[in-house]
Amino acid sequence: MPYSPFSRRTLLKAAGTSAALLPAAAMAQQQGGPTTSTVEDRDRRMEWWHQARFGMFIHFGLYSVLGRHEWVMEEEGIPVAEYQQLAKQFNPKPHAARAWAKLAKQAGMKYMVMTSKHHEGFCNFATKLTDYCAPKQAAGRDLVAEYAEAARAEGMRFGLYYSLMDWHHPDGARCLTDEAARRRFVDYIHGQVREICSNYGKLDILWYDVNWPLTPAGWESEKMNKMVRGLQPDILINNRSGIPEDFTTPEQHIQASATPWEACMTMNDSWGYQRADDNWKSPKTIVRNLLTCTRDRGNYLLNIGPKPDGSIPQPSIEILTAVGKWTDKHGDLIHKADRCQVRHSQFAQFTRQGNTLYIHAHFWPGETLALGGLQQKVLSAKLYTTGQPVKFEQEQFRVRFTGLPANAPDPLSTTIAVECDGEPTQDMLAIRKNRKRESV
Ligand code: GLC
Repeated sequence: MPYSPFSRRTLLKAAGTSAALLPAAAMAQQQGGPTTSTVEDRDRRMEWWHQARFGMFIHFGLYSVLGRHEWVMEEEGIPVAEYQQLAKQFNPKPHAARAWAKLAKQAGMKYMVMTSKHHEGFCNFATKLTDYCAPKQAAGRDLVAEYAEAARAEGMRFGLYYSLMDWHHPDGARCLTDEAARRRFVDYIHGQVREICSNYGKLDILWYDVNWPLTPAGWESEKMNKMVRGLQPDILINNRSGIPEDFTTPEQHIQASATPWEACMTMNDSWGYQRADDNWKSPKTIVRNLLTCTRDRGNYLLNIGPKPDGSIPQPSIEILTAVGKWTDKHGDLIHKADRCQVRHSQFAQFTRQGNTLYIHAHFWPGETLALGGLQQKVLSAKLYTTGQPVKFEQEQFRVRFTGLPANAPDPLSTTIAVECDGEPTQDMLAIRKNRKRESV
């Protein structure tokens, strides 16, 4: 697919004539800006986030005890009375979150987002609004407070996930048809959002999830998010309260957009702990995904699903440790990258910083590596991974880097830094259209 981010000017122009007639959310959508803030303020608040690029998602709750995915309650039709017994068992070892934060740091991640309440309705935080929360059940303590402390100790930005959908609250479904229930439920939800935004110091990210069964008007999302910004002026809010806010959240796939975006993905096929899920991605795939997000100026939120005692599944530890060895050497290229237009290759991914193109080869081609369609003149090239200068030959449609090691210097992805005489761009169609054709 050709890369065509719509410019802000186009979006503003599209919004122009009818702006005065539109409600705030619709206007924000047309303008590509947040509903309860401005584009300028969003850009200011999100500066750290764009540089951070890579974060850890943590799905942890009663479902972790069963180890059959976080949707187990609904998918197996477990009655509430039966499911809530898990709260009497869920008692992770103290400060389990310290190992999460250490691993996140080691992997090169810069922020974390933990489930404060998933669809099951159980709260990992101290809430005055229900007894169905960790401090008042077997755990006897505030798991969000432990996580907040652990994240900060490792210099991680601190984010919380909060599911609007609630399978436990008595009004969680009937709020759709019963106005008194809706009022109670929305007050409950807003009350809890107020608690998580008030009780843990600075909250960097509020990550809403599933807004079934109400519309944004029914949830009073705009009012809720204004309250959130009042409590946390620098906070970043995702789009899942149903109105455009600071960033979009493509799930299990990478989808670039002109406005800030974050792809959230699992390392196997489950968010919550699923003991039998062995469909693990390789460290190479994780690095490739990280680079794909980086190329298009997006973020990558990668999930762990701790076991009921809070320990991290061994495969996740191994994958993130391997990824960390790569980010250790190449982290700068992730955190300081500009949006990169170059994208066509079957063996490499690309990032850019100014006029320098970084070719990240995950399938190392050997002694010669060729790139088609580069429109700028190459001035110099070196193996970023080792610092070794690289020879090159440039023709009209092709650059060939020669004299490279036969085997990949880095098995996950080996990087060549290519300094160009302008911002590197690639035109593949020019090759197809203009390459000299000869008849035989
Ligand atoms: C989905 C799922 C949920 C998961 C989330 C992460 O909305 O319902 O289980 O927490 O995606 O993005």
